[in-house]
Amino acid sequence: MTSPFKQGLDKVCKGRVRFNEPLSRHTSFGIGGPCDAFIYPADLEDLQKVLALCKEQEVPVFVIGNGTNLLVGDGGIRGAVLKLSQACFQIESSGELVSVGAGVGLARFLWWCARQGLGGMEFASGIPGSVGGAIRGNAGTLKGEISDRVMQVEGIDLESGESLCLNGDKVGFAYRKTDLPSSFIITKATFQLYRDSLENVKLRMDEYFLIRKRSQPLDERSAGCIFRNPEGSSAGQLIDEAGCKGMSRGGAVVSSLHANFIINRGGATASDVLMLIKDVKKRVRDRTGVNLELEIEVIGEF
Ligand code: EPU
Repeated sequence: MTSPFKQGLDKVCKGRVRFNEPLSRHTSFGIGGPCDAFIYPADLEDLQKVLALCKEQEVPVFVIGNGTNLLVGDGGIRGAVLKLSQACFQIESSGELVSVGAGVGLARFLWWCARQGLGGMEFASGIPGSVGGAIRGNAGTLKGEISDRVMQVEGIDLESGESLCLNGDKVGFAYRKTDLPSSFIITKATFQLYRDSLENVKLRMDEYFLIRKRSQPLDERSAGCIFRNPEGSSAGQLIDEAGCKGMSRGGAVVSSLHANFIINRGGATASDVLMLIKDVKKRVRDRTGVNLELEIEVIGEF
């Protein structure tokens, strides 16, 4: 990290900045080495200024949501990590259309919907990510996915600094992914919901959450499902049938509740998790011929 960048941040950024911040504090795995600068832009204008500075100083930018679908290397990230929980935190509604900042936690958004008597997002009950992260990865469950409800996505193009607004059908939503380039920083999205009673919405939220809680290790440190489901089958079932539950490397272990979860049972490194991922992939390939693909994002230096 060059001192002109640090000085520049001092000058342009109104938000909080932490240097050499361990990313283990910002991931649900509790794993990840330090990034050069961890920045909470104070508002949209601040975000734009920070992005322009990063571009001018050729500092790589990574936007982190709630860090819940992420494996960060033990060597951390060379560059700036931006967290939008302050710059993009608003929820505003106009009837059944709701515009939500990318930095809002999905859980907060869901409770807001329940209180307003707006249905449609209950499928996401128990998904721990941020709205921005959920959009980028088209987060979902068997009950629905983000793309079912998103009408528009707003963001900033890192290269040009331009603000863009895309209609839902231009986002390229597919199973657990979108076509949005990494240079597109999501700032906000508009969701189409529908009127319902608080009781109905809450009932569905509770029901879906309980189903997940019974079958997934929600209280442990993990990054959710590690692998995407291959077409027509379940990665969890394949991993289970290949006998991988309980397999471990260092502090990382395959959950005995749901085989598509890897848990940090304490002191796991990113390398432990990566080795375990390779072990599981190999065993499933040897036993079934299926080549599992990662669902989580792997970034940084290992
Ligand atoms: N199964 C096993 N053993 C296991 C796990 C699952 O035999 O260890 C079997 C189950 O009995 C069931 C089938 O596999 O017959 C499917 O399991 P489940 O209902 O748990 O769904 P999944 O396909 O494993 C998907 C999403 C989850 C989402 C759940 C619930 C993916 C990769 N996973 O899991 O999403 O929460 O449905 O809707 O799409 C995530 O994206 O991080 C995630 C956890």
